[in-house]
Amino acid sequence: MALEADVSDAAAVTAAVSAATAALGPITVLFNHAGTIVIKPFLETTETEWDWLHAVNVKSMFLMTKAVLPGMIAAGGGSIVCTSSISAVAGTPMEVLYDTTKGAVHMFARAIAVEFRDRGIRCNAVCPGFIETPHGLREVRDLQALGVDVSEAAIAAAQGRIGRAEEVAEAALFLASNAASFVNGTHLFVDNGFTAI
Ligand SMILES: NC(=O)c1ccc[n+]([C@@H]2O[C@H](COP(=O)([O-])OP(=O)(O)OC[C@H]3O[C@@H](n4cnc5c(N)ncnc54)[C@H](O)[C@@H]3O)[C@@H](O)[C@H]2O)c1
Repeated sequence: MALEADVSDAAAVTAAVSAATAALGPITVLFNHAGTIVIKPFLETTETEWDWLHAVNVKSMFLMTKAVLPGMIAAGGGSIVCTSSISAVAGTPMEVLYDTTKGAVHMFARAIAVEFRDRGIRCNAVCPGFIETPHGLREVRDLQALGVDVSEAAIAAAQGRIGRAEEVAEAALFLASNAASFVNGTHLFVDNGFTAI
């Protein structure tokens, strides 16, 4: 079943969560994954862009999680996975806004974990490096256009190669599943050592 919703819009989130719950029962796994990026010199970043990206990347997790949690708790528990990024801990020029949203996601996952642990809820963050998706490829192209070195050689030096979406999905599935039953409030980096150097 697929439902379309702008996850930064409270009414759309409520409608989607209600429709999913009505059709399938309480939601016990939530993957807060939707997100996008603005790549710009900090001094050219507008207030509108700031508010919009925080709405899509961060407020979306607040809205979705708030809508889903009561049913998840009533069902006896569940797992929430939030997509953070290496950008939560490693700054990139031209990405002050994006990096700030991912820093917020990083703490969102951790703080939800400690507040709801006693009610059977696990909440973790998966933190990808550079991944070959439309977003990742646009990021590389736009950074290069602004003079930031994200050439193939630079990416190879930082993380060996560009990652595949499936490699992030496997990590997210692990966090969502009972295989991660004692993993809570963690940040799982899927970056082939980018943040280990
Ligand atoms: N690709 C990378 O290198 C990379 C690295 C680290 C983190 N991430 C994160 O991974 C997540 C997915 O990124 P991706 O690379 O697959 O990007 P993508 O642009 O390829 O896909 C993003 C998806 O989010 C959806 N989306 C965007 N805004 C939305 C909204 N307001 N409501 C509902 N859906 C919305 C889009 O429709 C699209 O399906 C994002 O949170 C991104 O920040 C990506």
